[in-house]
Amino acid sequence: MSEPSVLFVCLGNICRSPLAEAAFRAQAERVRLAAGADSAGTGDWHVGSPPDPRAQAVALRHGIDISGYRGRQVRAEDFHRFSHIFALDGTNLRDLRGIRPADGTAHLALLMDLVPGREGTNVTDPYFGDAAGFDVTWRDVTLAAAALAEKLSGR
Ligand code: 4NP
Repeated sequence: MSEPSVLFVCLGNICRSPLAEAAFRAQAERVRLAAGADSAGTGDWHVGSPPDPRAQAVALRHGIDISGYRGRQVRAEDFHRFSHIFALDGTNLRDLRGIRPADGTAHLALLMDLVPGREGTNVTDPYFGDAAGFDVTWRDVTLAAAALAEKLSGR
């Protein structure tokens, strides 16, 4: 089987999905899984922008520099380029189902479905809240990323 490649998708691609990408890269390294990772937004407001400063700060507190990440919008061909696409919330999932081409091959699911007991729930959007919301985001995406890395590495 070829190396898995995972795309994380939220609305703006400056808060939740960059953190999910960073958490997954860290968890893949932890379990020595070779995997591709990227993130994107369903919206186009932040194309070319770095992650929100509060997202950069929480990642850095966990030893990860995401200042070089840049926002991009998800596109139909992502359903051919990636083996897995994870939506951060139910609205993102619905929007992705609308973009998915009929012959798209990527496995599409809600991110928190990976976490036992959290199936069907959203990673709450921290954009309009305070800095503490980003700690909640980090915790949620790390739980999911750890479960995903272990699953993909066959543990
Ligand atoms: P994200 O958060 O989807 O986690 O990146 C948001 C960032 C920006 C906006 C909404 C959500 N916005 O409306 O600009």
